[in-house]
Amino acid sequence: MSTNTTSAYSDFHLQFIAGEWQTGKDDSTNNNTNPYNGDTLVEIQQATKDQLNKAYDAATQAQETWAKQTPAERSAVLYKVVNILDQRQEEIVDWLIKESGSTRIKAMVEFGATRAITLEAATFPNRVHGEIRPSNTPGKENFIYREPIGVVAVISPWNFPLHLTQRSIAPALALGNAVVLKPASDTPVTGGLLLAKVFEEAGLPKGLLNVVVGSGSEIGDAIVEHKASSFVSFTGSTSVGKHIGELANGGEHIKQVALELGGNSPFVVLKDADIDQAVKAAVFGKFLHQGQICMAINRIIVENEVYDEFVERFLSHVKTLQVGDPNDQGTAIGPIINEKQVQSLRDKIDEAQKEGAKMLLSGEINGQLVPPHVFTEVTREMDIAYNEIFGPLIGIIRAKNEEDALSIANDSMYGLSSAVFTADMQKGLRFARGIRAGMTHINDIPVNDESNVAFGGEKNSGIGRFNGEWVLEEFTRTHWISMQNEPREYPF
Ligand code: TAP
Repeated sequence: MSTNTTSAYSDFHLQFIAGEWQTGKDDSTNNNTNPYNGDTLVEIQQATKDQLNKAYDAATQAQETWAKQTPAERSAVLYKVVNILDQRQEEIVDWLIKESGSTRIKAMVEFGATRAITLEAATFPNRVHGEIRPSNTPGKENFIYREPIGVVAVISPWNFPLHLTQRSIAPALALGNAVVLKPASDTPVTGGLLLAKVFEEAGLPKGLLNVVVGSGSEIGDAIVEHKASSFVSFTGSTSVGKHIGELANGGEHIKQVALELGGNSPFVVLKDADIDQAVKAAVFGKFLHQGQICMAINRIIVENEVYDEFVERFLSHVKTLQVGDPNDQGTAIGPIINEKQVQSLRDKIDEAQKEGAKMLLSGEINGQLVPPHVFTEVTREMDIAYNEIFGPLIGIIRAKNEEDALSIANDSMYGLSSAVFTADMQKGLRFARGIRAGMTHINDIPVNDESNVAFGGEKNSGIGRFNGEWVLEEFTRTHWISMQNEPREYPF
């Protein structure tokens, strides 16, 4: 086993298990590449199931002591993490650009969100509280305790790797838990190893955060099924999320799961909307990170009276977007994460045309750079409208009226985020409340995340909520303890 205790944020070829940087013992290697130019960033020997077991053992042991530390001690580590993030912002942003194909704008957005949830989590140790409830039994007092869960398994995706990992691990650790984390194979650094360095530098005791790099198809099930964890926090595709849900609650296990899955966000433009503002929002809410965001606009639904005007202005704005090197300040659209995702976008483009959508804007796909594709005459049941895209393609649907727009917006198996544009706030509120989704933004984009506000979806978009009190509840367990202060009368 080789160890590495330097604080340099350049070498990430080792696993982080039981507080030690160690070589993965599996025969296979994760070849981590830059999605823009294919350069190899780092090669990581993957972890074996035996190393995964060691991670769980270390987490189980470390958690007992961690849970007993004072809230101030746990908070202090989280505040230190915020300081280190600030000091290392440039290095971190650089990694987000080269590993996940983030444009500079997206990397800064992600960095800000990561910082915000860490700051929010730093307040959790002192915010968690129980309750005293009255009892109908004479002489009894009821106490509701909120306790740490123990060891939390976290599996995270590649699109906002730093933030979507930190959104689970920072609250989990702050609340007295330990973590075994598996980052996505496309982003083992920004989705895990880099955060391990930050927490290590912040003085997090050994064993509390373990980062196990391995492929989901190889060690994913073992992470979910391991008996040491009773909670799995997963962010990723609906298909893998369903599998994890079944696995966590099948066989010998009944585990709690938080699933943050895919989406199909409708962006609705009603006839009285400020069209200029709606166009600006639609372009940013669709194309940020090449559309690879669970909350990204997946369907634009426009009321008949303003459809043509919206399409014309939307198209002319989209044509100004620069596609290319994500490191270039002016780039709006960088590379797609991997070849598999590029192929899935090619298939979607073909399918949209086959189904009769009109392709008003397209361009040549060059390696992993996919230029924006805009389709009109799209109907709700077409693949481009009904299924998640996860790329810079968009279909615009014509709605007969407000009622029709709402019916189209709700015609989805997903229910994550959504948006409506209107000049009439009362109408906007009525419309928003009619949408079956976890989040709706009036006169803004569906892509929103604030560390103190409930984040999450319903239907096939998952279960559970992140941020604020909601995640505080999610990462603790409820324990009712009653105290019988005088002898109780029993019927027999
Ligand atoms: P997934 O396959 O769902 O990957 C997400 C995470 O799950 C990764 O860490 C992955 O590991 C892991 N995983 C895969 N199979 C697993 C298993 N059997 N048990 C446990 N963990 C497992 O997503 P993807 O293939 O990277 O992306 C495909 C689609 O997912 C996208 O088109 C998009 O629709 C959706 N997606 C959604 C989100 C959000 S935020 N909701 C984020 C990314 C992707 P490996 O990387 O090692 O396979």
